[in-house]
Amino acid sequence: MELTTQQIKQYRDNGYLLIRNLFSPAEVAVMLNEMGKVIQEDCPRRILEKNGAVRSFFAPESGSEIFNSVIRSGRLVAPAMQLIGEEVYLHQSKINSKYAMVGDWWEWHQDYTFWKQDDGMPEPDVLTAMIFLNDVNEFNGPMLMIPGSHKSGVLDGGERNLQESEESWFTKYRNSTSYMSALTSDLKYTLSQQAVMHWAERNGIVSGTGPKGTVLFFHGNLFHASSNNLSPWDRHTFLISYNSVRNTLPVLDNPRPEFIASRNFEPLPVAVAETVL
Ligand code: SIN
Ligand code: MN
Repeated sequence: MELTTQQIKQYRDNGYLLIRNLFSPAEVAVMLNEMGKVIQEDCPRRILEKNGAVRSFFAPESGSEIFNSVIRSGRLVAPAMQLIGEEVYLHQSKINSKYAMVGDWWEWHQDYTFWKQDDGMPEPDVLTAMIFLNDVNEFNGPMLMIPGSHKSGVLDGGERNLQESEESWFTKYRNSTSYMSALTSDLKYTLSQQAVMHWAERNGIVSGTGPKGTVLFFHGNLFHASSNNLSPWDRHTFLISYNSVRNTLPVLDNPRPEFIASRNFEPLPVAVAETVL
């Protein structure tokens, strides 16, 4: 699967590229069914919402041939390589389940802030491919993006200081490990209101909608967020972050767990025969 010059230009200009129907409805049905099984496991890779619903499940491919082959699909790896301009390896993968009526928001942030601050990633030569496992519309919490905001570079606002009630179970959960506050609702690093307003007034905001099987590729520095899912329709997605093999993580004293920041820097093969799930 090769991107056109125009698609590459769109990504460079806007910081994202949306490709509809990259996976078929039948393939998505297989992924959705697998997700239902995978997220049953009560383990550190499973992250909860304030209301107790599953919010994310990291590295679902460990123990799932299906998610493993999706990550290695030429339909994702080849475009990731074209957009990054280098061979790539898998930095992180996660399911973001956003259930009808209960799925919580994602505040405005840049992904690379987390990877720079917490993992020491040298450069923002990294992108994420978000596969829509349901139809995504304006009501079920689509990704909101500010086109061109990736050109701002990374804005380091520092870690936020939340005024929290010590009593709430969520506060205790959020503080239960050194890495949890980067994964739960009330993100550890958010963009300042001023930065979001400045860029939104300049370039507007777009939402990433499309039928199930659509893939949204977005740059590590793109400003993005999403709202609660107040609709009766689930918005589940599978997100795979590909990093340049020239941008690997340094040795750290206290690295985050492998399931959040992989240190297997092996390049993903380019020409994998198309996987039929
Ligand atoms: C993310 O920021 O990683 C995903 C946001 C979303 O699921 O809407
Ligand atoms: Mn993000």
